[in-house]
Amino acid sequence: MKNIAVLVSGGGTNLQALIDAQSSGIIKSGKINLVISNNPDAYALKRAENANIKTAVCNKKELGNDFEDALINILEQNNTDIIVLAGFMCILSEKFTSHFANKILNVHPSLIPSFCGKGFYGLHVHEAALGYGVKVTGATVHFVNEIPDGGKIIMQKAVEIKEDDTPETLQKRVMEEAEWKILPLSVEKVCSEN
Ligand code: GAR
Repeated sequence: MKNIAVLVSGGGTNLQALIDAQSSGIIKSGKINLVISNNPDAYALKRAENANIKTAVCNKKELGNDFEDALINILEQNNTDIIVLAGFMCILSEKFTSHFANKILNVHPSLIPSFCGKGFYGLHVHEAALGYGVKVTGATVHFVNEIPDGGKIIMQKAVEIKEDDTPETLQKRVMEEAEWKILPLSVEKVCSEN
């Protein structure tokens, strides 16, 4: 059984999908034993508390250059095997990613290599997809390395764009149809193969 730490920044619907997948048995080779947020006000922390999962806050603004060392310390103290970035809005340096090589997963709300990399996060990704006029988008789960959204792809799922989509309606559909499905499946895959 792998110890899974989930890193969050906001609403935490992907964290919720992981918690639900654990309850339903989709995730069975690992257990979420820690949720860390860089944002003390993240609703994701409440979701973790409701599921009786230990939480920690690593405030990047307060910690400055010590942010990643603080993260590494908490992760090591909790014997973390697998790290899941689930709406975690901080870019991690090579020092951090190489410390946990092939152990960090991220969910990104587009079909990588489209609409990804620096500046492409949250709603901006869907604004860019609609602005370009693509007819299909989706979500990607990938390993995290030193290149933002550049690590090896684990799973992808396509989602159709509708004529009247707004960034908000598209974000919601990409989450429901793709992210909340492929993130738990990818976490189980990596836990069972490690
Ligand atoms: C999700 O759509 C996730 O893919 C995206 O932010 C949202 C977080 O929602 N992540 C990124 O854009 C990372 N580059 P959540 O807090 O409800 O899971």
